[in-house]
Amino acid sequence: MAAPLVGEMEPAAAESVYFNEYPPPKALPKHEALARAFIQLHVEANRRVVLVTSGGTTVPLEAQTVRFIDNFSAGTRGATSAEYFLEQGYAVIFLHRQYSLLPYSRHYSHSTNCFLDFMDEAPPSADSAESGHGSIMVRDEYQDQMRSVLRKYRYAKQNNRLLLLPFTTVSEYMFELRSMAKIMRPIGPNALFYLAAAVSDFFIPRSRMAEHKIQSSELPAHLQGSAVGADDIYTGENEEQPSNRKKLVVNLDPVPKFLHRLVDGWAPEGSMVVSFKLETDPSLLVYKARTALQRYSHHLVIGNLLSTRKWEVVFITPDEPHERWIRVPKSKRSKSISGVEDQVGLAEAQKGNTVPLDQSEAEQISDASRDGIEIESIIIPELVKLHTKMVEKKTQE
Ligand code: PMT
Repeated sequence: MAAPLVGEMEPAAAESVYFNEYPPPKALPKHEALARAFIQLHVEANRRVVLVTSGGTTVPLEAQTVRFIDNFSAGTRGATSAEYFLEQGYAVIFLHRQYSLLPYSRHYSHSTNCFLDFMDEAPPSADSAESGHGSIMVRDEYQDQMRSVLRKYRYAKQNNRLLLLPFTTVSEYMFELRSMAKIMRPIGPNALFYLAAAVSDFFIPRSRMAEHKIQSSELPAHLQGSAVGADDIYTGENEEQPSNRKKLVVNLDPVPKFLHRLVDGWAPEGSMVVSFKLETDPSLLVYKARTALQRYSHHLVIGNLLSTRKWEVVFITPDEPHERWIRVPKSKRSKSISGVEDQVGLAEAQKGNTVPLDQSEAEQISDASRDGIEIESIIIPELVKLHTKMVEKKTQE
């Protein structure tokens, strides 16, 4: 009988096999030290702390990685949510894919929103007339928006409310998540996990991974030693002729879902765990989100469709009403190139449970994105209400 894949083992066994197979990320000790100091500060202040995961994870094809598999996530959900958590008084550990969007700087880092377009060079002043150089300024029309973002950013930084920790690969993500959850234990019920990262579901275990760059053409025999050869798993479909049309067949194992271990082992006693469920087929979303909630016995699954994720999400909870939709009113929806407005509402299984948000309420919601409401500005206050209920219940016990 074939040995079980690590993704198919009991959670505790999968944990020990998985974490023994990989060296911890080089940055982990530094991240742990930063996180310990951050947590201590906020325990002393009795402040709530949320761990936000954000962005995609890579799956390397080679140990000395030249190529990897990736996914679409830019980290918009995570970076935007982090800002609204900060607004709600939370301290935020932002565990993110390196170079994905960051809270606050995200407003100026899109290629369509390049920070250089917000700047101008002023005419030279009397002092600088000789050099002919004027000062670099923010253009008049962006002053208010940039001032507001800058103030919030500086407040978070100066008051130590935001800790940025990067990862790249799926295994780095796993190590970081486990460590951060354990370090957060002193926070108890004040801790919240908001798992918005798009974690790869498939990977190549270290034991089957090529050390060096996978070759796309045959090597002479005397050089074949350490390169991936014809028998190797990656080149399962070598064509006899011609060698320059060689295929690469990649054989991936399921990544162990460590949500079990997070809920039952790593996370602080009494803390709240929120996972996300992403689907593309509207008929599957609610079913898959409910199944995840039952399987991992945590507190909330936020379901979203790829095509409508900026305008609607569903809260799937163990308690009534079980399925609750959050939607940005039509007139307040931001534009999205990849979004499909016709699909809004299609995934709703239990009709009529939409968080009521009329036009006047919508207008009061802070509008950070110049061209519409960010759905995270509705998600986070709703989630904070649920977290508050949990914290109150725990403190009464
Ligand atoms: O970044 P954006 O472009 O804004 O996109 C945001 C988003 C669509 C990526 C986000 O809203 C989202 O849905 N993230 C989760 C997508 C996902 O990976 O779903 P999943 O079904 O593969 O995983 C379910 C949950 O388990 C997730 O919360 C994930 O973080 C977590 N997980 C997944 C795999 C794994 N091995 N361990 C985990 O803990």
